[in-house]
Amino acid sequence: MKKTSEMYRGKTKTVYFTDNPNLLILEFRNEISALDGKHIETFERKGLINNNFNYLIMKKLMKSGIPTHMEQLLSDNQSLVKKLTMIPIECIIRNRAAGSLINRLGIIEGVLLNPPIFDIFLKNDLQHDPMINESYCETFGWVSKENLSNMKQLTYKANKILNNIFDNAGLILVDFKLEFGLFNGQVILGDEFSPDSSRLWDKKTKYKLDKDRFRYGLNNLIKSYEEVANRIGVFI
Ligand code: C5P
Repeated sequence: MKKTSEMYRGKTKTVYFTDNPNLLILEFRNEISALDGKHIETFERKGLINNNFNYLIMKKLMKSGIPTHMEQLLSDNQSLVKKLTMIPIECIIRNRAAGSLINRLGIIEGVLLNPPIFDIFLKNDLQHDPMINESYCETFGWVSKENLSNMKQLTYKANKILNNIFDNAGLILVDFKLEFGLFNGQVILGDEFSPDSSRLWDKKTKYKLDKDRFRYGLNNLIKSYEEVANRIGVFI
C-alpha cells in the first residue's frame, strides 16, 4: 500500500489517496481550529496524540460491535482507513450541558442531561454547520431515513461504550461528535474521536481536558490532551 496524491486538506487533518482505491491515509496535523477556521494555531505533538487517541478509541468501539473505518496505525501521525462516502451530518450526544446547548438554552454548564440529548448538524462551512433535524434530512435528501436511524442507534451505542471507558479513567464524557459514511452501502463510523471532537472533564475537579481549553483561551492544551490519553492507556 502506497500513499499517492492528496485528496482533501481539512482544518486539522489531510486525507491522501493510496494505490488501493478502497483505502485512504488520514494524517493528523498539529493545527487546531476554532471559530469556523478563523482561529488556527499549531501545537507540537497534537497530531501524534490525536492519531493515537483516535486509533485506540476506534479499536475499542470495533471490539464492541461498532463498524468503523479504521484499518491500521501507520505512523506517529497517520492511520490507514477505509474510503467511505461521507454523509454530511454531524451526530452529537450530550450527557451534560455545555457549549452550543448552554448558549442556545441559557442553562447552567454541567447540568446532567437524562436521557442524553441527540443533536444533528449539517456539515456546511458556508452556513456555519447549522442545527437540523430528521425532517430536514428527509426533505432535502441528505441521508435516508434508514441510514439516519442507524447513525442515531450507533451514536447512542458508542455513548454507552465511551462513557464506560472514560468513567473508568476518572473522566466525565460531557459530549461528543461522530461522523458516518457508507462503505458498500453499510453505515460505518468515520472521521475521528479525540479531545478535539469531544468534551472531557476530570470527574472530581471538573477541569476541562479538551478543545474548550483552546476555544476559551485557557492554558495547558497539550498537557490536558496528554493527560486524557495517558488515563485511558493510549501510550501503553
Ligand atoms: O459546539 P457544540 O457544543 O454543539 O459541540 C458539541 C460537541 O461536538 C463538542 O464535543 C464539540 O467538540 C463537538 N463538535 C465537533 N465539531 C463540530 C461541532 C461540534 O467536534 N463541528
